[in-house]
Amino acid sequence: MVTEPRRVTVSHAAGQYEVSIGRGQVGDLAAIAERVLPGRRLVVIADRTVGRLVAQPLKVPVLLVPAGESAKTRRRWADLTDQLLDLGLGRDGALVAFGGGVVGDLAGFVAATFLRGIPYLQVPTSLLAMVDASVGGKTGVNTHHGKNLVGAFHPPAAVIADPGVLTTLGRTHLRGGLIEAVKHGLVADAEYYDWIEAQAEPLLARDPTALATLVERSVRIKGEVVGADERESGRRAVLNAGHTVGHALERLAAYRLPHGEAVAAGLVVEGVVAEALGLAPEGLAADLTRRLRALGWQGTLPADDDGLLAAMRHDKKVRGTVIQMALPRAPGGLAAEAGGWTTATSDDIVRQSLGAARRLLDG
Ligand SMILES: NC(=O)c1ccc[n+]([C@@H]2O[C@H](COP(=O)([O-])OP(=O)(O)OC[C@H]3O[C@@H](n4cnc5c(N)ncnc54)[C@H](O)[C@@H]3O)[C@@H](O)[C@H]2O)c1
Ligand SMILES: [Zn+2]
Repeated sequence: MVTEPRRVTVSHAAGQYEVSIGRGQVGDLAAIAERVLPGRRLVVIADRTVGRLVAQPLKVPVLLVPAGESAKTRRRWADLTDQLLDLGLGRDGALVAFGGGVVGDLAGFVAATFLRGIPYLQVPTSLLAMVDASVGGKTGVNTHHGKNLVGAFHPPAAVIADPGVLTTLGRTHLRGGLIEAVKHGLVADAEYYDWIEAQAEPLLARDPTALATLVERSVRIKGEVVGADERESGRRAVLNAGHTVGHALERLAAYRLPHGEAVAAGLVVEGVVAEALGLAPEGLAADLTRRLRALGWQGTLPADDDGLLAAMRHDKKVRGTVIQMALPRAPGGLAAEAGGWTTATSDDIVRQSLGAARRLLDG
């Protein structure tokens, strides 16, 4: 069933694009692509899992990469570029990034560099890609020095988010998208923060109407932030809430911990830090923990404060040796909005907060 999609416009330095959110759009992709990219020769890039599980009607070449983060490499970028050249794709070509955030980032980077840049459509198929990765124009690949270290800003021609495709997505990946949405509510919209809690049941049951509303509200928040601050000079830091600690947890676990699970724990720890600094009201972190648990999140914290602190110093938001965090003031707002968007912490406060958060999560 095709319902009229909801539309959110995202602006960037060179123009704007539309994110349309609605069930049934993937089945209608040929007509949508013809409308957004008229007359273009299309090539689809997908991963093998999505290629197998999610049907799409485009009768064009489909280039497949292995599923998962390990595909986001310069080697894959080079292989895909060579395959497009072998196909004879020219400046009248365009790509369709059909998959999760990995395919979006990788295919977007291929599009950014192929013949010095061709347009591409983002068709996110994971919830994380719908609420986060497909919006904002960041593309890129990983290196052994770290994630996303080589890339480009290349906004898509349009984003087509169809929550109907989420029925086959694994539970942990579904939750990962929900956790980023909780973050959006926490940093930008208290009413949305409460709405997610109230809608936990239909969201976890993948009700497409509830998911469409979630994607729309998150995309409005992310789109507004990146539109105001495309290159992360300041405001975009709000999207890093939970991520200073979250990235440290991922690093410490050698990236075997799913990103969303790490961000959930990161949001709790950073909530405790905000309370300890007197920025957020007491109880914010406990309340947040309860909300995350209601989404089925069962995470705890590893007992390695030294390792976590060292890993936090690797985070890109660290200036000098002081660890900076994008801390909540209260649901719906950040603490440092008037200043630099992030707040400096101290090792003592972080250690103390790790202990308190661990007790909260074990309790
Ligand atoms: N560009 C940005 O602004 C931005 C923002 C956030 C994250 N990211 C990037 O996004 C990536 C993570 O995205 P992700 O969580 O979507 O990972 P992913 O692309 O690896 O997808 C997760 C898994 O779900 C599978 N999958 C996707 N859609 C499916 C569907 N409909 N049915 C069944 N299986 C499906 C994939 O095959 C994969 O195994 C990371 O590389 C991260 O760096 C980028
Ligand atoms: Zn994230």
